[in-house]
Amino acid sequence: MSVDVLLGLQWGDEGKGKVVDVLTPAYDVVARFQGGPNAGHTIEFGGKKFVLHTIPSGIFNPDCINLIGNGVIIDPAILQKEIVNLESSGVTVTKHLYVSRKAHLILPTHRLIDAASEASKGLQKIGSTLKGIGPTYTDKTARNGIRVGDVSSPDFLDKYNTLKNRHLQIVSQYGFDYSTHLIDGSDFESYEKKWFASLELLKRLNHVDSEYFINELLQQGKKVLAEGAQGSLLDVDFGSYPFVTSSNTTIAGVCSGLGIAPSKIGKVYGIFKAYCTRVGSGPFPTELTDADGENMRKTGNEFGSTTGRPRRCGWIDLPALQYAIMLNGVTDLIMMKADVLDGFENIKAAVAYHFGGKEITYIPFDAEDGKLKPVYQEIKGWNCKVTELKEKDALPLDLENYIRFIERNTNTPVTIVSTGPDRTQIVYR
Ligand code: GDP
Ligand code: IMO
Ligand code: MG
Repeated sequence: MSVDVLLGLQWGDEGKGKVVDVLTPAYDVVARFQGGPNAGHTIEFGGKKFVLHTIPSGIFNPDCINLIGNGVIIDPAILQKEIVNLESSGVTVTKHLYVSRKAHLILPTHRLIDAASEASKGLQKIGSTLKGIGPTYTDKTARNGIRVGDVSSPDFLDKYNTLKNRHLQIVSQYGFDYSTHLIDGSDFESYEKKWFASLELLKRLNHVDSEYFINELLQQGKKVLAEGAQGSLLDVDFGSYPFVTSSNTTIAGVCSGLGIAPSKIGKVYGIFKAYCTRVGSGPFPTELTDADGENMRKTGNEFGSTTGRPRRCGWIDLPALQYAIMLNGVTDLIMMKADVLDGFENIKAAVAYHFGGKEITYIPFDAEDGKLKPVYQEIKGWNCKVTELKEKDALPLDLENYIRFIERNTNTPVTIVSTGPDRTQIVYR
């Protein structure tokens, strides 16, 4: 059996959680392969709303194995909160949740370094979620990290203290006074206590050598869906560096973050919004700072699932979408939040950029903020409510035309369209 992959093609928050949940009944396993609690994946059904940060979005189906792969980084305090929230709502979690022994841990001091680093950058700050993502991946590649499998080892505390002391030195080199800094509402000492307490739950979870685990499941004929976090334009290699996250959010991350071979990859679902959003700093050529952008933010409830920050909004960017499709080998496109454009008379799509006196359709190396001026094509809007529509033949002709326009520009079929946040608001084409 092969591994199908679902990943974001823009700057994250495309609606990955919703679609993974919708597709889960067709899979035996859902696996996260990169990122950490910087992710916020929203799932809505039966009038309830859940936001997952570390746990895969297949968790609501009790028959589905949910795996946190080696490429993911885990803050045990955040994971514990997620598990407690879900279980108090009646969702079974720990029975069908598996965690890679090789997944790295986010320490409380990683979060201090993140805050210190951002504070030192001033106006050039990344706009990080401050979940300790950059510092934890830095320790992983610098070979200093602590992994899930280390938690039960007798020298765990020594390893922790060695790393903590090194981190506190870094924090002091930044000149960062952490005595007044809050981590998720707690001072450092209180957070550290909570963090240590949460290790008890982490120890009781199912720990696996996830690369063997997943390959054995594949050999048994099980169907696996890999769930991406963030989006391709935040990839550490291919995103708008340095305004990116610290992992490979693109297809290569699936192989390194789960231990599966490239030849095992099957379908690649690329998910995008009918427009664009970005939270945090960095270039965003089609950003709208006018009433249209405000309308998208209000109608689409564009506020970060992890940080609550308002998301920047703008028109769809086709050269950027083509780039993400190329990087990932997308086989199926999924268009989200079509309903957010219901009230627009006309819709714009960037089909090229003006850059350095030329018209280009690629993303240049030095595409800094404000340098790429979008060349727009205008498309007629559908001007009607689509939130109740369930059948492809019921989609308004002007929405169908917008979808076909995107298909022509990307040479990739749009197989699913989402028309609202709920699990049931989905149209298969
Ligand atoms: P993810 O990080 O990719 O899983 O996406 P987020 O959960 O951060 O953000 C997507 C937001 O859009 C969430 O609030 C979802 O409930 C919501 N959402 C998902 N699909 C749709 C849709 O088709 N229409 C509308 N209006 N909202 C949607
Ligand atoms: P999901 O999985 C949207 C952004 C941050 C910041 C940059 C670096 O929900 O789509 P980091 O915390 O990784 O150091 O932040 O990346 N970012 C996201 N934006 N959705 C996400 O995840 C994101 N995860 C990180 O806002 O600009
Ligand atoms: Mg999100």
